[in-house]
Amino acid sequence: MDVDREQLILAARAARSNAYTPYSNYRVGAAVITADGTLFTGCNVENASYPASICAERVAITKAVSEGHRDFVAIAIATENGGAPCGICRQVMFEFVPEMRVFLVDEVNVTGDFILRELLPHGFGPDSLPDTAQR
Ligand code: THU
Repeated sequence: MDVDREQLILAARAARSNAYTPYSNYRVGAAVITADGTLFTGCNVENASYPASICAERVAITKAVSEGHRDFVAIAIATENGGAPCGICRQVMFEFVPEMRVFLVDEVNVTGDFILRELLPHGFGPDSLPDTAQR
C-alpha cells in the first residue's frame, strides 16, 4: 500500500490543477484506486448555477463506476489546507466501500488518514434498505 499511496497522492495533487473553480477558488483533486490497481482521478467543476457544481471526489468515483469499477481501496483528496470531504461525497463513497481508506493531503503533507466509516458513522447504505426495496 505504501507505493500505491504515494502514487495516489501524486495523482490527486496533479488532478487538482484541472479544477474549474471561478466561484470559490478552492481547488480540489481526488484520486481513487481500485483492487486491481486501476486509478481514476477527478477535480471539482463549478458552474454559474452554483448547485450544478460537482466535487472532485464524486467526479473520480463516478468516472470509475461508469467504467465498471466499484471495488475501491483508497482515495486521496488534495486541497490547499487538507480539507475533509463533504457529506454528499462521504455518502456517495459509502455506497460502494464503507471500509475504503481516505487520505487527506495538502501540497506537502498527509493531513488525515481515515477509514471512510470513521468519517460517516452509522451511515446509510444499501444494507440499510429493507429487502422489499427495489435496488
Ligand atoms: N469541494 C470538493 O470538491 N470536495 C469536497 O469534498 C468539498 C468541497 C469543492 C466544491 C466547491 O467547488 C469547492 O470545493 C468549495 O466548496
